[in-house]
Amino acid sequence: MSLVYLNGEYKLIEEASVNVLDRGFIFGDGVYEVIPIFNRKIFRFDDHIRRLENSLEAIYMNNPLEKKEWHNIFNQLINSSEHPNQSIYLQITRGVSKRDHDVSVADKPTVFAMSRPIEKNDFFSGIKAITHEDIRWQYCDIKAITLLPSILLRYKAKQQGAREAILIRKGYVTEGAASNVFVCANGKIVTPPKTNHVLAGITRDLVVEILLENNLPLSEESISENTLLAADEIWVTSSTWEIVPVLELDDKSVGTGESSGPGPLWQEINRYYQEFKDAYCN
Ligand code: PDD
Repeated sequence: MSLVYLNGEYKLIEEASVNVLDRGFIFGDGVYEVIPIFNRKIFRFDDHIRRLENSLEAIYMNNPLEKKEWHNIFNQLINSSEHPNQSIYLQITRGVSKRDHDVSVADKPTVFAMSRPIEKNDFFSGIKAITHEDIRWQYCDIKAITLLPSILLRYKAKQQGAREAILIRKGYVTEGAASNVFVCANGKIVTPPKTNHVLAGITRDLVVEILLENNLPLSEESISENTLLAADEIWVTSSTWEIVPVLELDDKSVGTGESSGPGPLWQEINRYYQEFKDAYCN
């Protein structure tokens, strides 16, 4: 029977509830993380906690728990589920207060975590994506719970039969609505540098690490919309999707369109990534 964690207690999800004055509910005043669990092992735990702390610091909050305590909570949630592969969602809001924009009226954060099974990844055969103007704010490096722009972008993608929207700001690729982007073009693999317009994806960083270790031609630089549209391969990455090849962009085949499946560089990086994961989790 799978449990959730709320403010120090483990409960069934039906029994967990928060106050309607919680600032997460009223203002979207909080941050979150999504942490993958493979074969019951927490993948890239330190990196996720570091990013959580960066997000908290950016919104003037402290980490309410020690790293050890997070580890313990995650393991309790993992063990309460029968699934070997899970994703932990954790959310910290500034807590309950009268409705006031002033942050100093809130003194006790709300801490919530749950785990869901990761379904078998059916994206490895490739997805469709659209391009869209990046309509989000200037602090995309904060993993904020305020996700309305991303929700609208994913909705627009879905309306066009696609799974992801690749975002363009002033003519350059930032990231996906809920993923980072890699483009293979002119013999290079390129991903945008980590700026305030991009979430520092844990999967992105690992992919960069693995590409460099294997002497693949990776560079972190801006990608123009034209380069994206003419790319040989496009991949999007996230903790739950891993590395997903984009085979159609705006209803056009990516690359020459001659092969119907994912490209050779995706095959290579995905193999390395799965080997890395298996070595860690088995
Ligand atoms: N989102 N960029 C954005 C805007 C994201 O929302 C995500 C992940 C990523 C990839 O980050 P990571 O590799 O650390 O998962 C990039 C999660 C999965 C979500 O919101 O559910």
